[in-house]
Amino acid sequence: MKAIVVSQLGSADVLELRDLPTPDPGEGELLIRVIGTSVNFADIKARHGQYHGVTELPFVPGLDVAGVVEKVGEGVSRFREGMRVVAFPKTGSYAEYVLAQESLTYSLADAVNWETAAALPVVAFTAYALLSSVGQLNSGESVLVHAAAGGVGTTASQLANIMGAGQVIGVVSRAEKVSMAAETGAHQIIDSSKANFDEAVMEMTDGRGVDVILDSIGGKVSEDSLKCLAPFGRLVHFGSASGESGRIPVQQLHSSCRSVRGFSFGTTRRLKPSWIEPWARAVMELVSSGQLLMKVGRHYPLAEAADAQRWMESRSSVGKILLDVARYSH
Ligand SMILES: NC(=O)c1ccc[n+]([C@@H]2O[C@H](COP(=O)([O-])OP(=O)(O)OC[C@H]3O[C@@H](n4cnc5c(N)ncnc54)[C@H](OP(=O)(O)O)[C@@H]3O)[C@@H](O)[C@H]2O)c1
Repeated sequence: MKAIVVSQLGSADVLELRDLPTPDPGEGELLIRVIGTSVNFADIKARHGQYHGVTELPFVPGLDVAGVVEKVGEGVSRFREGMRVVAFPKTGSYAEYVLAQESLTYSLADAVNWETAAALPVVAFTAYALLSSVGQLNSGESVLVHAAAGGVGTTASQLANIMGAGQVIGVVSRAEKVSMAAETGAHQIIDSSKANFDEAVMEMTDGRGVDVILDSIGGKVSEDSLKCLAPFGRLVHFGSASGESGRIPVQQLHSSCRSVRGFSFGTTRRLKPSWIEPWARAVMELVSSGQLLMKVGRHYPLAEAADAQRWMESRSSVGKILLDVARYSH
């Protein structure tokens, strides 16, 4: 099978298309023929050796797939050959075939087309978890979404609206991203190249601050986020795109009843896989009914994975970036 391999850390130039043996499913595993996979920011972190998950060289990057079950291993009960699925595979997803455990594979409703399926697993399941279980968003509350034009951002803003948020504020780093953030549900958008987002948020909320902040950036952005978090607010930290750490003064938390919460889908997948099922069910219903639309910025063929990652790393990408592994029409 064809797969993209990273055999040394570095820029996107290290991604190589190679022939690898097609794996065989073991007990409780499925072999999936990949139709589409997606580029996630974690793939870029992994290439730089900065992902907290596995980065042992060489590796095939990629975290999620949409595809067709090709073969099932012993003991698999819910899936059979030919079924359409999405999965978080145990082998890298930038490949024509992957192995996935049955417990991290989800069947795909007929109503969900391949583009939507390939775009959704990591970002939609994560965004759902961030707003519901982690951020505990209540109806009428306000939400601030950093990187609001990106994969998680465009999904989270829509979900915040679906969950009844009263105000959704998006932050983007440049003017070209404003329309994508607006299209996907941010009611007000701050261009951080033109304004300090924390001051703008305080103005937009009449000095109160927001109830939930989705922070995937880290560093100064995390520090400034605390300046515009309302009493009882939840700052949800789930990524470090800036590569910086940031300092949170804990004495500012208890008297204001505010909290800082961390979340990693990868850690949850490894240690608490059963938690994912209800998020998956909810997301599948929302995409099947057309309430949640996965916004795809660009498609690339598998062989051009390096260009796809370059676009994301350049910070100019909008929406999800897909790698089309097989041809599809629906
Ligand atoms: N914890 C989890 O389980 C989990 C799961 C999925 C994703 N994430 C995190 O969520 C974030 C979004 O992921 P995604 O895959 O949907 O990516 P994305 O949002 O499509 O792209 C990353 C975005 O991060 C922003 N950014 C800020 N500083 C950056 C920098 N120094 N270099 C590049 N981009 C920078 C950019 O938006 P602006 O230019 O508008 O700022 C960029 O578009 C990432 O931090 C990722 O690690 C975490």
